[in-house]
Amino acid sequence: MSDQLGFDGKVVIITGAGGGLGRQHALLMAARGALVVINDLGGAVDGSGSDKGAAERVVDEIKALGGEAVADTNSVATPAGGKAIVQTALDAYGKVDVLVNNAGILRDKSFHNLTFAEGEPDLLNPVLDVHLKGAFYVTQPAWVVMREQGYGRIISTSSAAGIFGNFGQTNYGAAKMGLVGFTRVLAVEGAKYNIKANAIAPLALTRMTENIMGGLGDKLDPGLVSPLVAFLAHDDCPVSGQVFSVGGGRVAHVFIAETKGFYQHDLTVEAVRDNWATVTDQTGYGVPNNLGEETALFLPFFA
Ligand code: NAI
Repeated sequence: MSDQLGFDGKVVIITGAGGGLGRQHALLMAARGALVVINDLGGAVDGSGSDKGAAERVVDEIKALGGEAVADTNSVATPAGGKAIVQTALDAYGKVDVLVNNAGILRDKSFHNLTFAEGEPDLLNPVLDVHLKGAFYVTQPAWVVMREQGYGRIISTSSAAGIFGNFGQTNYGAAKMGLVGFTRVLAVEGAKYNIKANAIAPLALTRMTENIMGGLGDKLDPGLVSPLVAFLAHDDCPVSGQVFSVGGGRVAHVFIAETKGFYQHDLTVEAVRDNWATVTDQTGYGVPNNLGEETALFLPFFA
């Protein structure tokens, strides 16, 4: 018996799968038996334009390799688009087991120069609409199905630009860190329905990053991100609510930790100043997985 991780009969929706990372996730899971919805609007990196051919070409590629897939060219960026994407899966395959929120665009600008007022180029709303609200719009109709069937795997594509910070990406970084909060709450709400939600922060050479990778580019094959996505999409996925950094063959756990902290029942401004070293001392930090576990970190001080 082989211990290869298979996806026989699993229905997988991947948004933005007409190229880059999404295409690689699709090729990998289709090769292992998944029935894949290849969603892609087919626009430019900044989100302008559309090309129905992007999704169709990946479907053709999968079919030529003996796999099964269907194209969907709706935008993730509206509630109607999100519903239509999930409906494509239901019409073609009757259920949804896995959703990979991957569609994305960039409108980088330093915060000082970021425009979004009426009459100005909108560098904010389309970025939030595709990455953050788009995840709501596609995930909720999928969630209804997953909850009903008592099974689901959701992988959302975050970014180190938001988790750790990067110049010129307040819009994108906020949307991407928003997906971490989204993922952590979904993990809490999905636990009793066997719905697991996790997020990845990938690093890969794609059209989105080709101008910024420099010498690292040839180490960052986008196909090296997909094994983690497939593992998180699998029945055997051991975690929920977690974030992983992945690129070029490296996989690492990104976790949100909290120091033990300083406590004084009558806290003053000067006490904060004078005990700053204790506030920030990372010795014995905690890694709470939800709000309840975080609140529990206060309790030893109140005993
Ligand atoms: P990409 O540009 O090749 O892929 C993004 C895909 O999303 C495109 O095919 C695009 O047509 C599609 N898309 C955009 N707006 C859409 C919409 N409204 N509806 C449906 N599809 C839409 O770039 P890449 O690198 O493959 O990006 C995939 C995801 O990974 C994105 O969310 C990106 O922000 C994220 N990411 C990528 C990193 C990298 O190093 N390549 C780093 C961190 C995050």
